[in-house]
Amino acid sequence: MSMVDTLGRPVRDLRISVTDRCNFRCVYCMPKEVFGRDYQFLERRELLSFEEIDRLARAFIRLGVEKIRLTGGEPLVRRDLARLVAMLAEVDGLDLTLTTNGSLLPQHAQALRDAGLNRVTVSLDSLDDEVFCAMNDVDFPVARVLQGIDAAAAAGLAPVKVNMVVKRGVNESSILPMARHFHGSGHILRFIEYMDVGHTNGWRLDDVVPATEILSAIAAELPLEPADANYHGEVAKRWRYRDGGGEIGIISSVTQPFCGSCTRARLSAEGRLYTCLFAVRGHDLRAVVRSGSSDEELDGAISAIWRGRSDRYSELRTAETAARPKVEMSYIGG
Ligand code: GTP
Ligand code: 5AD
Ligand code: SF4
Ligand code: SF4
Repeated sequence: MSMVDTLGRPVRDLRISVTDRCNFRCVYCMPKEVFGRDYQFLERRELLSFEEIDRLARAFIRLGVEKIRLTGGEPLVRRDLARLVAMLAEVDGLDLTLTTNGSLLPQHAQALRDAGLNRVTVSLDSLDDEVFCAMNDVDFPVARVLQGIDAAAAAGLAPVKVNMVVKRGVNESSILPMARHFHGSGHILRFIEYMDVGHTNGWRLDDVVPATEILSAIAAELPLEPADANYHGEVAKRWRYRDGGGEIGIISSVTQPFCGSCTRARLSAEGRLYTCLFAVRGHDLRAVVRSGSSDEELDGAISAIWRGRSDRYSELRTAETAARPKVEMSYIGG
């Protein structure tokens, strides 16, 4: 069924959060002041079961989704995740991927690959333990994440993408060391402008290092040339090293927003559908699933929400909208 929103955008990419928990506390995502010991995470019965996730995923696929990304919180803290991967991997031609902080990849990479996962994206904001801890507030060493990246590549979850969120004054100094480290490694490093997601990260425009600045810092040492997008609406702009050392990506969500080609839907761990990363509220699909609806009714409910979608937060970002309440990124996944 072809289905587009009010701005003519189809749904192509579904991000499914499988848990709201994480074993990290990144300062830009789950700061300790908010997600401290007293923070109430979701109870098990509130979470969608794997069977419910699979049913919803198949409805989205009928409506046009071609790519599914499992997220969190940290998806690998959800028990037995490989079972869900195996269920989703039965769908022919689906691009099935996962975003993780990498710390649990050494023990899970092979089982995920065997279950049918295609590739992974690992978040890593610095190679320097001190800076890494300042950004991620954990006592893991960077080495643990690097082992996770190696384990993913060894299991065939390749190419591994590495996401580095750049925050002014915190990990700017890590841009070049990260570029040098992953140059020639076969992994694809992507630099991401720090965004004003949620309302817990105290975002200010001053915290953003613009994509152009990141790019020129790298190109001054390691010359780059633009590469074509892999697909329409690709979030990262691709740049290839002129010396054959592979490619990097730059995600300029703040300085050059890409809402016009945004085909992403987000499903929270408790089954709420968010039509934008910055949405104020989600639509309760768990209630639809748990009320005994038929597949036609489920498709109809999703379709009605998508057809009414008009989100373009990043393009409209203003002092007024920035002050509005928003969903937390740890809740619906990056
Ligand atoms: P692939 O091209 O399949 O690897 O996926 P991707 O680049 O879309 O994946 P990923 O989830 O790794 O996206 C990278 C980062 O871009 C996210 O972590 C966000 O910081 C940012 N981003 C992704 N989607 C959106 C979006 O819809 N809106 C905004 N504003 N930022 C986004
Ligand atoms: N700005 C940009 N990206 C963010 N992510 C989380 N919080 C932010 C933010 N404030 C993304 C990063 C990370 C993934 C889990 O979510 O890409 O790797
Ligand atoms: Fe956890 Fe990822 Fe959020 Fe960091 S960004 S706290 S690793 S969910
Ligand atoms: Fe899509 Fe919303 Fe991000 Fe714009 S701000 S690209 S509409 S998720």
